[in-house]
Amino acid sequence: MSCGASTMAYTRGPVLALAFMLWGAQGQQPNNRFQNPIIPGFHPDPSCIFCRSDETFYCASSTFNVFPGIPIHASKDLTSWRLIGHALNRENQLPELSGSIGSTSGIWAPALREHNGTFYLLTTMVHDKRAANDSSRWDNIIFSTTDLWDESKWSEAVHVPFEGYDISAHWDDEGNAYIVGSYAWKVAYGIHLAEVDMKTGEVLSNWTNLWNGTGGIAPEGPHIFKKDGWYYLMIAEGGTGLLHMETIARSKALFGPYEPNPSNPILTNANTTEYFQAIGHADLFQDVRGQWWGVALGVRAGPEWLNFPLGRETVLYNVTWENGSWPQLQHPIRGEMQSWTLPSITENLSDNGPLANEGDFYRSFPPNSSLPPYFAFWRPPKKENYVISPADMPGWLELKPSHLNLTGLDGNSPGPGGITFISRRQTDTLFTYSVVFDFQPKVAEEEAGISLFLSQNHHARFGLTALPLANTTSSELVPHFCFRAISHIPVPADVIVPVPEAWRSKRLTMSLRTINETHYEFGAGPADCSARPRSIATVPGSIISWGFTGALVGAYATSNGGNGTTSAYLTDWNYEGRGQVRETWNGTLGGVD
Ligand SMILES: *[C@@H]1O[C@H](CO)[C@@H](O)[C@H](O)[C@H]1NC(C)=O
Ligand SMILES: *[C@@H]1O[C@H](CO)[C@@H](O)[C@H](O)[C@H]1NC(C)=O
Ligand SMILES: *[C@@H]1O[C@H](CO)[C@@H](O)[C@H](O)[C@H]1NC(C)=O
Ligand SMILES: *[C@@H]1O[C@H](CO)[C@@H](O)[C@H](O)[C@H]1NC(C)=O
Ligand SMILES: *[C@@H]1O[C@H](CO)[C@@H](O)[C@H](O)[C@H]1NC(C)=O
Ligand SMILES: *[C@@H]1O[C@H](CO)[C@@H](O)[C@H](O)[C@H]1NC(C)=O
Ligand SMILES: *[C@@H]1O[C@H](CO)[C@@H](O)[C@H](O)[C@H]1NC(C)=O
Ligand SMILES: *[C@@H]1O[C@H](CO)[C@@H](O)[C@H](O)[C@H]1NC(C)=O
Ligand SMILES: *[C@@H]1O[C@H](CO)[C@@H](O)[C@H](O)[C@H]1NC(C)=O
Ligand SMILES: *[C@@H]1O[C@H](CO)[C@@H](O)[C@H](O)[C@H]1NC(C)=O
Ligand SMILES: *[C@@H]1O[C@H](CO)[C@@H](O)[C@H](O)[C@H]1NC(C)=O
Ligand SMILES: *[C@@H]1O[C@H](CO)[C@@H](O)[C@H](O)[C@H]1NC(C)=O
Repeated sequence: MSCGASTMAYTRGPVLALAFMLWGAQGQQPNNRFQNPIIPGFHPDPSCIFCRSDETFYCASSTFNVFPGIPIHASKDLTSWRLIGHALNRENQLPELSGSIGSTSGIWAPALREHNGTFYLLTTMVHDKRAANDSSRWDNIIFSTTDLWDESKWSEAVHVPFEGYDISAHWDDEGNAYIVGSYAWKVAYGIHLAEVDMKTGEVLSNWTNLWNGTGGIAPEGPHIFKKDGWYYLMIAEGGTGLLHMETIARSKALFGPYEPNPSNPILTNANTTEYFQAIGHADLFQDVRGQWWGVALGVRAGPEWLNFPLGRETVLYNVTWENGSWPQLQHPIRGEMQSWTLPSITENLSDNGPLANEGDFYRSFPPNSSLPPYFAFWRPPKKENYVISPADMPGWLELKPSHLNLTGLDGNSPGPGGITFISRRQTDTLFTYSVVFDFQPKVAEEEAGISLFLSQNHHARFGLTALPLANTTSSELVPHFCFRAISHIPVPADVIVPVPEAWRSKRLTMSLRTINETHYEFGAGPADCSARPRSIATVPGSIISWGFTGALVGAYATSNGGNGTTSAYLTDWNYEGRGQVRETWNGTLGGVD
């Protein structure tokens, strides 16, 4: 990003710009069209409900190692979604998450349900590096609350003994509760159901195998719906990649036998050239008029499946479900969808949380303020490593270095001191992100900077560190820019260059921007704009196109295992969306909005 570009952001102001985009877009669109994804960026495995008492839609999504975990988004119109809290917002609700090992372990798919005035969030804390048949790998849990709008009301985790994952809830007409879940394949196979006490997690019946799906791998993500005298069991199959699909079976009795829909799959983009791929892991709900809708996860990857840094996002579609008939789910899923008339906004949710598609700009971090709710840490943070407006640097955010760098010891470990890293999701195909750093590294190996981060073993980082100058015999340490990346595929070479002499005593703007849909660029320049910023490295999004999570952008500080204790101070945190690609990118801005 150039100094010119960031100056523009200062004068325009992100709030005004976003309000303009939001209302501008709504004003131009008929209300039977919408755009996917509805909740952009790393928001996989959506589960949504419509709450009749306040005529509001609520959605939960999975977060793996990210904390706070399990965001709850609310909407009146199904298109603008606000983050109103996180089901997992206190470390003591689930202390095990702090020790979570593995890039794709942690919180898997949630199911959000309401019964008799209580909201239940069922999910699985997955411990990695254990055999799938090791029961200690699968920790199924229930959180509950009576107020989705006050995240402090969410309960601690209640544990349910079940050696599987993706649990969801169903209540019969007598009010008895059941849990349906996917067995871990090494233990048993398919979708199983048992009666459970939702307050204690105690399993009250044997687990019954209801259905194994239509033959796709990994039958999972089950939900049960009772309609017109039928129990419908909807599941995902095929794995969460190109062959992902949603299938359904039904029975007159809750415990079966279930007969599959002859028209399965009922939702998929598999074997198409659509830009959105991996459609599946769906949930269904009705609006106030009784019209049906559904959500699923989708990946903006195209069938090439090479470049999808945003990971699995939340998409919407309309559904026809006539009495006694199988539901029909609108697909293929596309960036531009036509549907029933969307619910009209009956009440404004504004000021009740940030919009899911909004950028941000923190000119400063004022005393007594708190960090914004969408800021993401990798596992529950060591709070003492993040100091808002310290006495010697009022208005700045102090990051105290962790012993571990972003990679950690073996690429996956939590480390007792945590990893000092504060981030937000990449929510736009194209964006600019920059932060002003005041960081004067003094001790060998200490480092602070910004990162494009998917996991501890998939990220690129661009930092400032103190090193002796190359080709000198002097041991004097001089600030250097250093860029390093790690992935399952080859990464660009390290870049280690001295900070230009005239910049060394200055505050520096560190920036990350998308060059296009597939490539990112790291750069830096003096924050006072006394010199043009320099591009330091370019990195392809394919290095973070992997696994179950999605890109984060943020700032870190580490001693790299050394003796450094120098804090990094940041301000002017600015993430600005520059466009969403919703159909296959063709290299021109014509394909972007
Ligand atoms: C519903 O909740 C109310 C109030 O908490 C309680 O008195 C009642 O027994 C509950 N009904 C059922 C069917 O669980
Ligand atoms: C568990 O699975 C592993 C392979 O993943 C196998 O070697 C082991 O025998 C299994 N243990 C049991 C008790 O089934
Ligand atoms: C579970 O199954 C066993 C063996 O089939 C049976 O003895 C037991 O009564 C069952 N338990 C319940 C709660 O249904
Ligand atoms: C599911 O698969 C398992 C293992 O192959 C099999 O034993 C079971 O009968 C199947 N269940 C159903 C409902 O078809
Ligand atoms: C996609 O094609 C593969 C290979 O032909 C096939 O196995 C699979 O069933 C197809 N999936 C769908 C949902 O059509
Ligand atoms: C569908 O069923 C509901 C209740 O099950 C009933 O109220 C409604 O009239 C039915 N609609 C049609 C078109 O049959
Ligand atoms: C979705 O809505 C469109 C527009 O009204 C309609 O043509 C289509 O049949 C609907 N699809 C489903 C599966 O309900
Ligand atoms: C990051 O930390 C790991 C573990 O402490 C260490 O092996 C590695 O060398 C560090 N990376 C750099 C670039 O310092
Ligand atoms: C250091 O020396 C090597 C070999 O003489 C040379 O190729 C390289 O350009 C020098 N690097 C710097 C930063 O001067
Ligand atoms: C850290 O300090 C100890 C004790 O002064 C010293 O032995 C060690 O070499 C230092 N480590 C590094 C990486 O500088
Ligand atoms: C995106 O940018 C990279 C790096 O500049 C370039 O190699 C690539 O061809 C560009 N892709 C498109 C579609 O323009
Ligand atoms: C790219 O897509 C846009 C919008 O779909 C279109 O207007 C433009 O002509 C396309 N460009 C090329 C080179 O195909």
